[in-house]
Amino acid sequence: MRTDTQQIVRLEDYRPSDFLIDRVELDVKLHPTETKVVATVAMRPNPEGRPDAPLVLDGDELNLKAVALNGRPLSTDEFEVSPQSLTIAQAPRQPFTLTIETEINPTANTKLMGLYRSSGNYCTQCEAEGFRRITYFLDRPDIMAVYTTRIEADREDAPVLLGNGNPVESGTVDGSDRHFAVWHDPHPKPSYLFALVGGRLGRVSKTFTTMSGRAVDLAIYVEPGKESRADYALDALERSMRWDEKVFGREYDLDVFNIVAVSDFNMGAMENKGLNIFNDKYVLASPETATDMDYAHIEAIIAHEYFHNWTGNRVTCRDWFQLCLKEGLTVFRDQEFSSDERSRPVHRIAEVKTLRARQFLEDSSPLAHPVRPTQYREINNFYTATVYEKGAEIVRMLKTIIGEADFRRGMDLYFERCDGTAATVEDFLGAFADVTGRDLSHFARWYEQSGTPRVTVKGHHDPDAKTFRLDFEQGTPPTPGQPKKDAMAIPVALGLVAQDGTLANTACERLDSRGVFLFDKLTDSITFTDVTSRPVPSLFRGFSAPVKLSLDLPNEELLVLLRHDTDAFNRWQAAQTMAMRLLTALAKGIHADDRDIDALAGALCSFMARDALDDPAFAALVVTLPSEADVAQEIGQDVDPDAIHRARSQMRHRIGRSCAEPLQRFYDTLSDSGPYSPDAASAGRRSLRNACLDLLAAADPGTGEALAVRQLESASNMTDRLASLSVLTTLPGSVREEAIARFGDRYRNEPLVLDKWFTLQAAIPEDGTLERVTGLMQHPAFSISNPNRVRSLIGSFAMLNQVQFNRADGAGYRFLASIVLRVDELNPQLAARLLTAFSTWRMMESTRRSQAEQALRSIAQKPNLSRDVGDIVSRSLE
Ligand code: PHE
Ligand code: ZN
Repeated sequence: MRTDTQQIVRLEDYRPSDFLIDRVELDVKLHPTETKVVATVAMRPNPEGRPDAPLVLDGDELNLKAVALNGRPLSTDEFEVSPQSLTIAQAPRQPFTLTIETEINPTANTKLMGLYRSSGNYCTQCEAEGFRRITYFLDRPDIMAVYTTRIEADREDAPVLLGNGNPVESGTVDGSDRHFAVWHDPHPKPSYLFALVGGRLGRVSKTFTTMSGRAVDLAIYVEPGKESRADYALDALERSMRWDEKVFGREYDLDVFNIVAVSDFNMGAMENKGLNIFNDKYVLASPETATDMDYAHIEAIIAHEYFHNWTGNRVTCRDWFQLCLKEGLTVFRDQEFSSDERSRPVHRIAEVKTLRARQFLEDSSPLAHPVRPTQYREINNFYTATVYEKGAEIVRMLKTIIGEADFRRGMDLYFERCDGTAATVEDFLGAFADVTGRDLSHFARWYEQSGTPRVTVKGHHDPDAKTFRLDFEQGTPPTPGQPKKDAMAIPVALGLVAQDGTLANTACERLDSRGVFLFDKLTDSITFTDVTSRPVPSLFRGFSAPVKLSLDLPNEELLVLLRHDTDAFNRWQAAQTMAMRLLTALAKGIHADDRDIDALAGALCSFMARDALDDPAFAALVVTLPSEADVAQEIGQDVDPDAIHRARSQMRHRIGRSCAEPLQRFYDTLSDSGPYSPDAASAGRRSLRNACLDLLAAADPGTGEALAVRQLESASNMTDRLASLSVLTTLPGSVREEAIARFGDRYRNEPLVLDKWFTLQAAIPEDGTLERVTGLMQHPAFSISNPNRVRSLIGSFAMLNQVQFNRADGAGYRFLASIVLRVDELNPQLAARLLTAFSTWRMMESTRRSQAEQALRSIAQKPNLSRDVGDIVSRSLE
């Protein structure tokens, strides 16, 4: 590996910039290959910086045309320039104006950072360090300036011109086919929130009146002809704005709010001030093309980016180590929004499923890092499940510990103090410490210590003393750079459930008024009094902390919780825990008692019969077994994916057989009538019905195939159509192949639907799938340069297909390695993300482990790897 890409940035080295920027005027003349950018920047020395320091501006692949200081062109001996930086050794000690002209080529920009083209439109992506690909700049988030942007383009090519802030002026460039628009953003912002768009776009719009009565024009821009597919996103935006006013007292602050959907985008979406840019898969939806899950994601991501206006934009990050300050907090806010708009327990279970699948996995891998990392080589590699999802869990724990009212008071104080600043995690916690008078320094360890804590609990009932004691013990495994761990401050929301389901009379002085025990030492015990018979403890209700729990309840007691717990999360968890026990035993070849499988199946049947219709979405989650990846993570070492696959198939078959009667009944009675609606209740009925279909097919492939074929033909919406095709993919044969072919043909002009089609095929757990995937790379709709296509086909193969990616002959690993190298030449960020599929390699059994290691080493030894890929591959091998 090249050594010059190894430069490490450290939190402890932070120091204020030597110069500040007050105002930026950008003049951008859009052209497919020769876009001219003139930046006029009002700067001054920072009183907190070093006197006499040179002015060093960041660049990335830039081509400097001219530079002037206070209007006077600089001669070549007055500055030093390279594509990566522009240095002026003797910058004035007074305020000054720097004028910089650069030329960039948006068509050649395949990294999708800076200014690039997507489907012929111009757009930008500047987070984290993309602004330096537009002009030389102090490209760091603590440099906040007021921006005015003039955009000029051919009227034909780009009739729509959008920038940050409010529109000021627009018109024709005299005597030409060109036109221009000027945008002004009065709110000082860091460069990563800069954006502009130029293109041929259709729009939907409406007016929103804020809580103080100001009118805001909301608009969503999409590919012409797809306007009606943006209606749901527009509705979600309006609901998000109202919710943030109601729940957090936060009002919007510009005259317009624009969203643009683009088809080439590295991430989900971006919160640029007043001009959010979205991956089109998180905007476009119609019943014919989007599933219930797509609608839910659109709602959540629209909300997420909108919420950033306060948590991210008005209050931004001092440096990139503080990324969780905006991301963790904003994920928490979007999760709360979705919970309020939908079913809270169902949403909580979905959140925890992703947290475990992605963040717990990351925490146990060579890529484990703290929520606030202390060093990085490439910041793009830290937009992770840990920063986002575990970051959100920390905010939730804080709220659990201090209570709802103090949480809101703390948030208000945080906004009041930090508005218009670039803040730190300390500023955030400081607001809560101040409103509550609590010392949060121990709690702050959640930001620093990586790894998932394990909490082991043992219960002791003393019938004579009528007490029930819970002994707690905690420990966190070593992670890279952190061999020794301290005790964490873990909020345990808990209660006791009597064996017969009636509420146990719980009195325990260690619980707060909300039933939360703060477990903040390595060991601790709490005792309940007046407990006459042995109760079942229900711990970590609502998943009150991101930890792994070891509590050896007998299966019968788990079934008591499934049946009687008042906490819906723990009812679901009880079924999962029992299923996981059986699955791991089967997969390890340990004899699982048939009676236990029957007991679980029986409990699920009676759960279905009794409770499924109360909340069908919840029931669908209860009857769905842990995934193969979940089981692999639970086993943790010497993993054999084939054995896990067999175990899970066997369990699905057994449960499907035992429950065939209620499954068939629900499948028949839940069928949809009336027009499609994406609301949570309707989606819940569809998800239960499709979970039933899946189990029926596992029990009896013949029946399953017939039902799935009928559903595929008659479905009125993409949710049901895709679910039936998904069931068919588990049933080899010509019926499946024809169904796949027809579906592909029907949606040949719908790239976002073909993505789902790629994903289903890439996930088929059979020999031959790798060949299928390489074949599909030749499909006319596939493109190695489009992130959505690459992730749907290749990302899904590597992340979802446990058995085929982890083929014992190493072919899956070699395939991914070759793709990573190919993609790295075009789009390093995308390549690095694909490469994280290897993060589980150390937990595989030895044959696979050595195959994976060879594939990783073959990447590591390549010259000219990007910093993104170089960083991931070297940490994966450490
Ligand atoms: N900040 C974006 C978000 O809302 C994510 C993102 C990061 C998008 C980097 C593009 C580039 O989460
Ligand atoms: Zn975000």
